[in-house]
Amino acid sequence: MKLLHNKVAIVTGGASGIGRATALLFAREGARVAVADMSETAGQAMVEEIRQAGGEAFFQRVDVRRDADCAALVEATLGHYGQLDIAFNNAGIGGAPSLTQDQGLEQWRQVLDVNLTGVFNCMVHELRAMKERGGSIINTASIMGLQGTAGSAAYSASKHGVIGLTRSAALEYGKYGVRINALCPGFVATPMLVGETSLLDPKGLDALARSVPMRRLAEPAEQAEMVLWLASDKSSYATGGHFVVDGGVLA
Ligand SMILES: NC(=O)c1ccc[n+]([C@@H]2O[C@H](COP(=O)([O-])OP(=O)(O)OC[C@H]3O[C@@H](n4cnc5c(N)ncnc54)[C@H](O)[C@@H]3O)[C@@H](O)[C@H]2O)c1
Repeated sequence: MKLLHNKVAIVTGGASGIGRATALLFAREGARVAVADMSETAGQAMVEEIRQAGGEAFFQRVDVRRDADCAALVEATLGHYGQLDIAFNNAGIGGAPSLTQDQGLEQWRQVLDVNLTGVFNCMVHELRAMKERGGSIINTASIMGLQGTAGSAAYSASKHGVIGLTRSAALEYGKYGVRINALCPGFVATPMLVGETSLLDPKGLDALARSVPMRRLAEPAEQAEMVLWLASDKSSYATGGHFVVDGGVLA
């Protein structure tokens, strides 16, 4: 039997990178998927791809910074499929590197708003929907949520925050059968890192890959496999944890 047979899942940031790979894998494993993203064109294309492969999905345009969008996402998911079992709160942004003193309040707020408040906004509505019948929530943090990162204070702080939020909510909701865990990817070959807007040139990317004990970046699908495990009943006793998939960087 497929791992997510009869399950309904939300994936934020589902139009690209890790979210995209996870939405595809969830659908392949039998879940009906709400693909949520700010990018409508890529999100609709993603849903079409899932349908072409025989899966079930719909797209919802969401800016996770907006509480009303997150409420509408959960409402639309319940409207389409009648239940919510899994939520992968994954939408996130990087941020231009700079010394902390030069970061600027605007960029600080932008990164925290998407990466941390965005996860909070989604969780509030997902938890309300899951409290009666249980579920699994996975929040995307980062290895930068477990160590300091010179030049990326806001990003690192936001990801430390995601782990704190995950742990605190796990303490509250264990008794309701809602498991809540964080994914901590290392360096992943997604548009955030290797795309046109990447802050690294090819030489920088090569050096980054060589710095990893496994001598390469991760593929998004390698992160999705961990998310699938956390989403499925295979991880039935895992909650409040953070799961590192980093090719050995933190070792
Ligand atoms: N790529 C890496 O090396 C890496 C490493 C560790 C953690 N992460 C985290 O993984 C997550 C996914 O990143 P990715 O690498 O797949 O990047 P990506 O840029 O490929 O995908 C991010 C997606 O989030 C969407 N998004 C951005 N802001 C949004 C908002 N306000 N509301 C809704 N959607 C929004 C984008 O449109 C995009 O589709 C992020 O939280 C990121 O911080 C990435």
